[in-house]
Amino acid sequence: MASNDDRRLRPICVFDSGLGGLTVVRELAGALPGEDIIYLGDTARVPYGIKSPETIRRFACEDAAFLLRFNPKMLVVACNTASAAAVDALVAMSPVPVIDMIRPGAAAACEAANGSLIGVIGTEATVRSKAYERAIEACRPGSRVCSVPCPLLVPIVEEGRDADDPIVTHVLCDYLRDMQRRRPGALILGCTHYPLLWDAIAKLMGPDVRLINSGLAAARQAQQMLDAQGELNPRSSLGALRCFTTDNPERFAVLGKRFGGRDLTSVAYVGTDELEGGPR
Ligand code: DGL
Repeated sequence: MASNDDRRLRPICVFDSGLGGLTVVRELAGALPGEDIIYLGDTARVPYGIKSPETIRRFACEDAAFLLRFNPKMLVVACNTASAAAVDALVAMSPVPVIDMIRPGAAAACEAANGSLIGVIGTEATVRSKAYERAIEACRPGSRVCSVPCPLLVPIVEEGRDADDPIVTHVLCDYLRDMQRRRPGALILGCTHYPLLWDAIAKLMGPDVRLINSGLAAARQAQQMLDAQGELNPRSSLGALRCFTTDNPERFAVLGKRFGGRDLTSVAYVGTDELEGGPR
């Protein structure tokens, strides 16, 4: 019998700097279709990827403080940049398990590369943090890693450019030239936006390079953790997705459909000044 404080019925709370984390929501909904998801996209302050670690940490902790007011059973940091800069602070403040993007992505890459070179692409802040290098080293000591920041890809994807757009091809060719030459066994798409460029990246890197979607790896980890803890939502129908955004809900709903692969029927505005205070 489900009671009001039945942990299984609590939502999973997810945040990102903006729209990109909806690619992670897509994977979460695939792995955990019965779960209610509450998503916060901090579109007023996006991008995080060009900001200092201190600022990213402050924003991430404010995002988490807002979501924890919903009494979730799990917090998912659906942003590689926030994961890289703030995971320790988020774990320290959260009474529930925190799933980040870096550790699951690194583990999936170590398995796929099987000792060969691992490539990482991400925002400036993610690459500068060396968080993927540390997670890969912890998972498989002695691994060789090659990381490249790709700052233009976030605005290009947000502008709606498809994987076969010549501008996308041109920019990717430039960023991935060295990576192509070094032929990694696995390449981590270490940014929420990059799964939308999957086909273009796969074409450039060729069939021998295994692409790793950190969001998918994180969703699998979330599913395994909830299953092991007996906290999967027992319902057989689909869970609800409720979104909050710190700017322009109309734009969020329109663009978000492309990232999340579904209509966003519940999108509400929350001001950044309200984040610390939590939902009204
Ligand atoms: N969501 C961010 C990430 O995964 C990309 C956008 C940003 O720079 O804020 O790193």
